[in-house]
Amino acid sequence: MRIFRSLLFGLSVVSAGGVLAQDASDIPKQKHDYQSDVARLRKIVVNSLYSNRDVFLRELISNANDALEKLRLTALKEPEVLTGAEELNVTIKAFKDDDGSSRIIIRDTGIGMTPEELTINLGTLAKSGTSEFLARAENTDTTGTGNLIGAFGLGFYSSFLVADQVYVSSLAAKSSRNPEPVQYVFSSSADESSFEVYPDPHGNTLGRGTEITLVLKDDTQEYLDTHKLADLVNKHSSFSSQFPIYLFTQRTEQVPDEEAVEEVQAAEESKTEVDEDEVVVEDTTEIDENEAKEPKMKDVVVDEWIHLNSQPPIWIRDPKTVTDEEYELFYQATFKDFDKPLAWHHFSGDTGSGVSFRAIIYIPSRLDESYWNNPLVSSSKDLRLMVKRTFITSDLGEDALPKWANWVKVIVDAEDLPLNVSREQLQSTKFLKQIRQILLRHILQMLTRVMEEDSEKFEEVQKVYGNVFKLGAVEDKRNRDKLVALTRFYTNQKNSTSLDEYLANKKQGQNQIFYLADMGKKPEFLAKSVFIEKLDARGYEVLLLGDPLDEIFVQNLRVWKKVQFQDVAKAGLKFGDEDPEEEKEEIEVMTEKFRPLLDWLKGQAEDVVREVVISNRLVSSSCAVVADMFGYTANIERMMSSTANQGNQGTMHEFAKKQKLLEINPKSPLIQGLLRRVEQLPAEDEEPDAEAEAELKEVASVLIDGALVRSGFHVPDSNEFFTRVDRILRRSLGVSETAPTDTTVKPAPPVDPEIHTEDDFAFLDDLPGGDQPGVYIPDSSKGQVSWEVEEIDEEGNPVHPRDEL
Ligand SMILES: *[C@@H]1O[C@H](CO)[C@@H](O)[C@H](O)[C@H]1NC(C)=O
Ligand SMILES: *[C@@H]1O[C@H](CO)[C@@H](O)[C@H](O)[C@H]1NC(C)=O
Ligand SMILES: *[C@@H]1O[C@H](CO)[C@@H](O)[C@H](O)[C@H]1NC(C)=O
Repeated sequence: MRIFRSLLFGLSVVSAGGVLAQDASDIPKQKHDYQSDVARLRKIVVNSLYSNRDVFLRELISNANDALEKLRLTALKEPEVLTGAEELNVTIKAFKDDDGSSRIIIRDTGIGMTPEELTINLGTLAKSGTSEFLARAENTDTTGTGNLIGAFGLGFYSSFLVADQVYVSSLAAKSSRNPEPVQYVFSSSADESSFEVYPDPHGNTLGRGTEITLVLKDDTQEYLDTHKLADLVNKHSSFSSQFPIYLFTQRTEQVPDEEAVEEVQAAEESKTEVDEDEVVVEDTTEIDENEAKEPKMKDVVVDEWIHLNSQPPIWIRDPKTVTDEEYELFYQATFKDFDKPLAWHHFSGDTGSGVSFRAIIYIPSRLDESYWNNPLVSSSKDLRLMVKRTFITSDLGEDALPKWANWVKVIVDAEDLPLNVSREQLQSTKFLKQIRQILLRHILQMLTRVMEEDSEKFEEVQKVYGNVFKLGAVEDKRNRDKLVALTRFYTNQKNSTSLDEYLANKKQGQNQIFYLADMGKKPEFLAKSVFIEKLDARGYEVLLLGDPLDEIFVQNLRVWKKVQFQDVAKAGLKFGDEDPEEEKEEIEVMTEKFRPLLDWLKGQAEDVVREVVISNRLVSSSCAVVADMFGYTANIERMMSSTANQGNQGTMHEFAKKQKLLEINPKSPLIQGLLRRVEQLPAEDEEPDAEAEAELKEVASVLIDGALVRSGFHVPDSNEFFTRVDRILRRSLGVSETAPTDTTVKPAPPVDPEIHTEDDFAFLDDLPGGDQPGVYIPDSSKGQVSWEVEEIDEEGNPVHPRDEL
């Protein structure tokens, strides 16, 4: 059987020939060493993605797409760049070459690269974020690296997953800066630490753009299979490219042999005048003149460029016809996030000023690590604006969306904007403002729908975005109520409640939303707080706010559905079912009864609190320190003192003191006992009993400090506190309170300026690695740790970078 190569793929034949000659040794080649980070990077890519080699195709197509996008955007201002190749496309061709090697050629008609750009883009890591990439890649597991590579635009190095040798021919677009572009080749093999850049011996064969030739490794021959290639493109790339992707295929067809003779003649003729776009059928059988008359079938090989991404992009399609998998794959390809999104929403609309659009909003499964680093800076880098299916920009400025919403990943395709619209123009029209409002409305609708219809999914959303909603409720007054509805809180009764659910559960007469805030504390800990003792015992629900944002949230909101928030650590707590008269009377009676103790304690606690009062919030605890209505709770006080400078601390302490109350529980036997003892103290006109007074003072002091601690405040002097506790313990054990502890110790020997002798270093012999610097390497299989000596060069730098150890 004899197979004619079709003339159809004329361009590619030329290129393939060019590739062959690229190895030619008679061309002057400029040799470069890879920048050291590139070597590191290539190693990471190849090692970590070894089991996931398919990604190379996705990455190279993604790069091709970027080059085409860049060309199209440049052409808006400088149409000249389009010369050389009319159509913007990506072509993929896999074949066995005459020399027996297997090759894949991926080609685009994009912006192309000058020799300098070839060197810089492929041989150095000038791109921003690369060192960040390296740092993260070296600390991430394998799957993570795959995601990172795409996200950092370093996909070219994935070529070496499948290829021993890579050639990149590129012809930059013709422009005013580069009026006479010349086609150059970048060539590198997988195991070399250098690459070469030289003029393409075949001249400017590409017209424009970049062609990557991969010479496949022995164990990656499977990629010659066009079905496999088509599957990979369909799965990962057909969504991401706005430009057609063509795959070269050959199939064998059987045709009746009767017309064999005419066929051959026709083919002979057509060879000279064939149109590139036509499918050409070639005869593959030897023609035997004698058998020509017999009706017989024969095989012909048909060459074809298959258009792989011929479907319209999914945002244009009717949502009913798009499968979940398609939405997910589109998301991955477009936003380079390989974790499945939590939810999405696909809709179309009109901005109200005559611009109709289609959009898909995605909720990613996690927030970017940097999200909370700059709480107030907003930047929506994943709001991709398209016009008539053509990508325009993903940078709509800092305020495109408010902070609370800027993590969404959105694609918006506007029908009625000019293709050459610039970001500045967009910002000066109403379009952006209107789109912003529409997107926010839909984001909220979508979240609300998840909340109402899918509680499991909503729990996931809460885990990631719970705090974001609280931030949003503070930040975005216009959408406040909808955002508040999305917030959830722990309480002493449930581990998740909305404010509306809370209100539905409020007791008769209750006219406050009770909350306890203590930054960084777990709900289980807060649930045992002295402040909610009585509320809890009586069956009232209390929000337990352990996150710093929680308290900011309630202080901003202050009132929800006409019910006020009440910090249970502050004065002013009302259950709502008290009989004001009765309660007042009871407090008055108690205050009268406990007057001697209240007065005496006030004297003892005057450094700490403004007043000592009878409590209505304590059940089993003897006392607590609460903040005044407008004072600082322990939570706020801690937040402030962590930021306050030394100079301010004095005044702050003075201020905070004035805002605190010591509440005592009249039912506590301890308090009752203390009252009796205070009453027994000699009156002022009697002989003072110094010993009894000192003892009581000590008890009071421990009691007050204990109350501070229980209430979350700092004890002014914790050394003093423990000395007192020590004395009280001695008393209860019947040990002498004054018996001193023997505090004699052996003093340090005199100063010794002597140089040490060898013997002093003997211990080094017992250390692994002696005095060599190194690192401990845990070996989990043996449950041991071993010492790896780090080799150092003359300049003191480690010979092996960490990742090799
Ligand atoms: C891709 O575009 C180039 C011109 O830019 C054209 O010559 C070529 O035929 C196109 N490829 C296919 C398969 O259509
Ligand atoms: C955009 O293109 C239109 C015609 O397509 C032209 O009239 C207009 O001046 C262009 N605007 C800019 C800013 O280039
Ligand atoms: C809430 O509590 C219930 C039962 O106490 C438990 O099954 C559930 O997992 C908890 N949910 C969360 C988010 O902690």
